Amino acid sequence: MANITTNIIFLILLLFLHHTHTTLSLPLLPITSKNQTKVYVIHVMHPDGPTELLTHDDREKWYLSFLPNATLDSGEPRMVHTYSVAMSGFAARLTPDEVRRMKSIPNFLFAHLDKPVHLRTTHTPTLLGLNQYNSLWQKSSQGEGIIIGVLDSGITPDHASFVDPGLPPPPLKWRGLCDLPAGFSCTNKLIGAQAFTHKGKKTPIDEEGHGTHVAAIAAGTKVPDAGVLGQASGTASGMAPRAHIAMYNVCTKSSCTNGNLIRGFDQAIIDGVDLIQISIGAKNYDYSLNGVVIGSFAALKHGILTVNSAGNSGPFKSILDNDVPWILHVGAANIDRHVTAILKLSNGMEFKGMSAYQPDPSTAVDLPLIYPGVNQTQETLTCQNGSMAGFDVVGKIVLCGTGYIDKTEKAEIVKAAGGAAIIVINQPWEGYTINADPYSIPAIHVSYNDGIKILNYFAADPNVTGTITFKGTNYGTRPSPTVASFSSRGPSLLNGGILKPDVIAPGVNILSAWPFKPGTHEISNNTKNFIMERGTSMAAPHVSGIAALLKKLHPDWSPAAIKSAIMTTAYSLDRDGDPIKDDASSGKRDRANIFAIGAGHINPTAANDPGLVYDFINTDDYIPYLCSLKGYKSAMVTRIVNQYVTCGKKMGAEEVNYPSIQVSMGFPGAKNQSVQRMVKNVGEASAKYTASVVKPSGVEVVVSPETLEFSNVGEERNFTVVLSLTGKGQLKKDDVLEGRLKWVSQSGKQEVSSPIVVTA
Ligand SMILES: *[C@@H]1O[C@H](CO)[C@@H](O)[C@H](O)[C@H]1NC(C)=O
Ligand SMILES: *[C@@H]1O[C@H](CO)[C@@H](O)[C@H](O)[C@H]1NC(C)=O
Ligand SMILES: *[C@@H]1O[C@H](CO)[C@@H](O)[C@H](O)[C@H]1NC(C)=O
Ligand SMILES: *[C@@H]1O[C@H](CO)[C@@H](O)[C@H](O)[C@H]1NC(C)=O
Ligand SMILES: *[C@@H]1O[C@H](CO)[C@@H](O)[C@H](O)[C@H]1NC(C)=O
Ligand SMILES: *[C@@H]1O[C@H](CO)[C@@H](O)[C@H](O)[C@H]1NC(C)=O
Ligand SMILES: *[C@@H]1O[C@H](CO)[C@@H](O)[C@H](O)[C@H]1NC(C)=O
Ligand SMILES: *[C@@H]1O[C@H](CO)[C@@H](O)[C@H](O)[C@H]1NC(C)=O
Repeated sequence: MANITTNIIFLILLLFLHHTHTTLSLPLLPITSKNQTKVYVIHVMHPDGPTELLTHDDREKWYLSFLPNATLDSGEPRMVHTYSVAMSGFAARLTPDEVRRMKSIPNFLFAHLDKPVHLRTTHTPTLLGLNQYNSLWQKSSQGEGIIIGVLDSGITPDHASFVDPGLPPPPLKWRGLCDLPAGFSCTNKLIGAQAFTHKGKKTPIDEEGHGTHVAAIAAGTKVPDAGVLGQASGTASGMAPRAHIAMYNVCTKSSCTNGNLIRGFDQAIIDGVDLIQISIGAKNYDYSLNGVVIGSFAALKHGILTVNSAGNSGPFKSILDNDVPWILHVGAANIDRHVTAILKLSNGMEFKGMSAYQPDPSTAVDLPLIYPGVNQTQETLTCQNGSMAGFDVVGKIVLCGTGYIDKTEKAEIVKAAGGAAIIVINQPWEGYTINADPYSIPAIHVSYNDGIKILNYFAADPNVTGTITFKGTNYGTRPSPTVASFSSRGPSLLNGGILKPDVIAPGVNILSAWPFKPGTHEISNNTKNFIMERGTSMAAPHVSGIAALLKKLHPDWSPAAIKSAIMTTAYSLDRDGDPIKDDASSGKRDRANIFAIGAGHINPTAANDPGLVYDFINTDDYIPYLCSLKGYKSAMVTRIVNQYVTCGKKMGAEEVNYPSIQVSMGFPGAKNQSVQRMVKNVGEASAKYTASVVKPSGVEVVVSPETLEFSNVGEERNFTVVLSLTGKGQLKKDDVLEGRLKWVSQSGKQEVSSPIVVTA
């Protein structure tokens, strides 16, 4: 028993820094000698104003004037990317000395090394209340006419999910290109495909799978009889199945950087997309060096909302990046679909897990178990290649921890060593989030809690045998939804006053299009490959698709209004009416913290009729907010917003007209805080709303006025919320108090709900 506990602790230490598998990690740039060139992103500022206003030729010429010359000895051009709307500047190959010399050229602002960024890796439309009878899909014509720009790893153009279902041509404003190789062409579904990578092959064709999966979740055409290995079958559909898709490949294995990302934003804005979907991030807490922050701000200036995945670094807190208020950040929720595998031990104990491979009848009947992890090496604990040597695994069920390599790869290794089946056990922090993967041998993926029990039974009786059977695809699993253990959580390190993530959306066992044969990386000519993936990468495109439906129905809504509608209508109770729980629990599932779920789980139908929205139209109003961030000087803010800024007036994050409220107080500081908000009527012209407050414990909340009356659509009303600590008025350092403010319409049809968070 003691042995097993040590094993688990061992795993924690070894795997602490390991990314979840849908995050594509890239090697760091090699250390280079002084005369070697690297790619730098260079910010400059033209004396005549934003470079956007220059002609293309003037801009290119002016940018070139910063370089020592146009070509390197190797014959490679120095210029990698030139930007026009996303930022003023370019990316170029330079030596550190050349960069140093460039700094003395007038109008030079800043240079930084181009850093790597990472990809974050269909039942869901029905789950979200979208079906042919539902009014949102019907009213919005399933997003017809809306263009979703997807910045990702490319696309599989001939996949069934991207077949044109008979769409009208893209709107006249569309200016994008189709750079597909011979043999492929764009359609009214996939209207644009371009590549902005700078190393290796430059093609919009997806060689990763990530971009294909993400794009089809957002706007894939309906595909009947989709499924993986016969499981989760049904009609696969994107959230906005009649929206146009424009793919910008900014991230291949050999070339996935900030510089590419900014170029993708640049082109998407110029091309005229309506929304930007991005499931890419960098561990970069400095906003002024962060391509997602810079690109999305430029998009915002052009009225384009950016939807971004929150990241897969959960459940550890404070690991969100680019968590600025103008991006809609999406965490991942576990859904109610279970592709069930059952493990029965000879002692009578039964465990429920998952596998997409469901052989019938099962060949894993009454087999001995074996645990290479007794050897306590990182390799044996996680069943890496070579680690089976010395263990008699032939014909047995092998126990393996998750981590380091894909679960399906572990099964391959077990199979090659003669093992008959595999039990894959979660790490402690992965808790209850399990997946249905396309294994090649009978397999079951179990939660950490179940894994510990299995290991304990095995430790107590090494003669125990196991049988794995398969029960197909089941719906209605409880509790549901829950927060996926890997979903990144707040609080934001920088933005004390902005609650992040904003919402959660389905992100576990999501069936969507795939370029390869399931369980392999083999290119196949089957245009109906689907796999189930997990990650906030899969959650974000659900929200992008929904945002497209809302944009179609409400063309006049600003990016902030769309974001507000999605946030204030989100729910925080599960299907049993209990608070949504967190998969990342070691014992019983705990209630999910506000920093895991934000405003709650998306509710698309309600988002179409939010009643009131927290709008924030003037992008310049974000400048005093950026200036208020700790350590942010004028020069940094200038780079973020792409215009000269002299920080003067400051506006704290809690003052941003945000659809959630987060304040810090009482440690030791003030015992009260007052925040102002403004809401705009987007419901019926004549409306009256009454404030209803769920007070955080130990906090008095006064909303004034308590009622808001409107007589016209578009009318705005201000209100104030004063929060004060009752009792001793002291908070402990890690206290997090949660409450809610709801504006309830007189008709009772709308509840404009905002979470309230009070921290020390
Ligand atoms: C770069 O520097 C290295 C030594 O640091 C030297 O061996 C090499 O010849 C130099 N290459 C060029 C192109 O100057
Ligand atoms: C460009 O500049 C580099 C470094 O200063 C130099 O080695 C190279 O010869 C130049 N190329 C041309 C074509 O002048
Ligand atoms: C366990 O590990 C040791 C070295 O750490 C090795 O010598 C031994 O063969 C391993 N046992 C098995 C069964 O592989
Ligand atoms: C394991 O390693 C061997 C030898 O290097 C290799 O042939 C085999 O393909 C590897 N298996 C897997 C599943 O990676
Ligand atoms: C396991 O089986 C072996 C051989 O059949 C036997 O000697 C041993 O006592 C058994 N162990 C337990 C804990 O039952
Ligand atoms: C495509 O698939 C069919 C049927 O599986 C096969 O006969 C054909 O050779 C494949 N073509 C290519 C180019 O792989
Ligand atoms: C807030 O606290 C200050 C002192 O810290 C006090 O003067 C003021 O009256 C308080 N305001 C409210 C609304 O409680
Ligand atoms: C709401 O407050 C803002 C800023 O304080 C002010 O400019 C605006 O006029 C107010 N609007 C209404 C309807 O009172």
